[in-house]
Amino acid sequence: MSNQLEKVKELIELRTQARLGGGEKAINKQHEKGKYTARERIAMLLDEGSFEEMDMFVKHRCTNFGQDKKTYLGDGVVTGYGTIDGRLVYVFAQDFTVFGGSLSETMALKICKVMDQAMKMGAPCIGINDSGGARIQEGINALAGYAEIFQRNILASGVIPQISGIFGPCAGGAVYSPALTDFTLMMEGTSYMFLTGPKVVKTVTGEDVSAEDLGGASVHSSKSGVTHFTASTEEEALALIRKLLSYIPQNNLEEAPQVECTDPIDRLEDSLNEIIPDNPNKAYNMYEVISAIVDNGEFLEVQANYARNIIIGFARFNGQSVGIVANQPQVMAGVLDSNASRKGARFVRFCDAFNIPLVSLVDVPGFLPGTGQEYNGVILHGAKLLYAYGEATVPKVTITLRKSYGGSHIVMSCKQLRGDMNYAWPTAEIAVMGGAGAVEVLYAKEAKEAADPKAFMAEKEAEYTKLFANPYNAAKYGYIDDVIEPRNTRFRIIRALQQLQTKKLNNPAKKHGNIPL
Ligand code: HXC
Repeated sequence: MSNQLEKVKELIELRTQARLGGGEKAINKQHEKGKYTARERIAMLLDEGSFEEMDMFVKHRCTNFGQDKKTYLGDGVVTGYGTIDGRLVYVFAQDFTVFGGSLSETMALKICKVMDQAMKMGAPCIGINDSGGARIQEGINALAGYAEIFQRNILASGVIPQISGIFGPCAGGAVYSPALTDFTLMMEGTSYMFLTGPKVVKTVTGEDVSAEDLGGASVHSSKSGVTHFTASTEEEALALIRKLLSYIPQNNLEEAPQVECTDPIDRLEDSLNEIIPDNPNKAYNMYEVISAIVDNGEFLEVQANYARNIIIGFARFNGQSVGIVANQPQVMAGVLDSNASRKGARFVRFCDAFNIPLVSLVDVPGFLPGTGQEYNGVILHGAKLLYAYGEATVPKVTITLRKSYGGSHIVMSCKQLRGDMNYAWPTAEIAVMGGAGAVEVLYAKEAKEAADPKAFMAEKEAEYTKLFANPYNAAKYGYIDDVIEPRNTRFRIIRALQQLQTKKLNNPAKKHGNIPL
């Protein structure tokens, strides 16, 4: 065998060795837990055969605790690039078979390298987390590595889409990289995220709690709102990431991919002409409205189980990607509270950062009153949503279906927050406050003197409702651009979005605003 062939053979052997990560025993252990390896995950995520690995010969440099005798090619993370639906993406997947996927100095360097490359190329970066945290043997170098990653997450925010999959443990400061990215997806049953684990919690607070109850997927999808998606299998999770990317552009200077629309743009939805109940206190299901108007009824909901009084997610109109924000009358009457405001605000800002138009469907009776909300800072949280809508320069189309009262009317993308096209259904009620509350303030004294106070108040309420609980008062002033037939909503939104394609609007130059955090 020639010298050269000898060297090629050696290369092939090294590659085979690197692809085994921590070795067959560790791979089997991973499989026994019902989990895939880092390379298997990448293969499922990317278009077949598109993955190009980088840095597979990197080894850690630690000599503490005999670490120099334990080295693995690639050192605990698989990094590189490939395509999803033909579009370039960068990816890193922590390899639990090597020191439990724990983060070393060199592993951080590998991750930072793909993040830098993703920024240079203007392509999304996807991280699959499955790690025991900082590599304990490396001490401060592992911490520095985390900080390098976080700094890049921060600078990449709003420039390229960043997505985190949590496919195993993610604890301690390690949680901050996913938290800084745009979307987080957690595996049900096999992943958890927390700052301090159950043992530390027990020691410090005496509280007895399992890892699942402290930071499992169901906790973070419903209670904390930390995760945007959950999945029950890794196949489902990786398919979800691919789907999510189909709605999102490659970077902040591009538009989301336009797909061919097979759903007629002038499709009339007669059911919408009868969806609003006669009784204003009765709910209807906003999901029915969304699926009736968007292309093929397809809606990718984000944070489906958190603050369910507001619905957010991606859909398409005539093949164009949009972000939908909608109040849900079926949950707490669609009222805005602290959590719903934060959920809505972050989504609005994501869409604005990535040139995705916003379609808002409004049926909101107001902000949730009470000490619970006030002590929790609903003023600041509500202001986040207000700020996000007011700051957004993407096309904004707003449809008021029914209630739109007081501060919540303003917050939900009203005309004066630079709403581009604001439509209302004939059932819209756009006013300072609801009839019952209004007459209580205006006529409480007179009611006491009336022969029949109840009848007097009922009469005044009817008078108020007739005057204000309609869309025409707002339309009279041009605050509503048109009152539309509900069954035409899809067509009117598509027309509006077509009109707004050349929209140009810039905010004043500044370092950055000071959103009420
Ligand atoms: C070095 C680690 C490691 C770590 C796991 N391993 N975590 N090695 N540093 N942080 C190694 C194990 O020693 C083991 O090696 C292999 O990975 C697999 O781990 P197991 O324990 O066998 O797996 P499992 O039973 O599934 O348990 C997984 C685990 C557990 C729950 C993650 O390993 C664990 O509790 N690890 C420590 C977590 C931790 O405290 N991390 C540091 C947090 S401080 P062998 O050779 O036996 O196969 C931190 C600060 C970050 O992260 C701050 C950032 C700003």
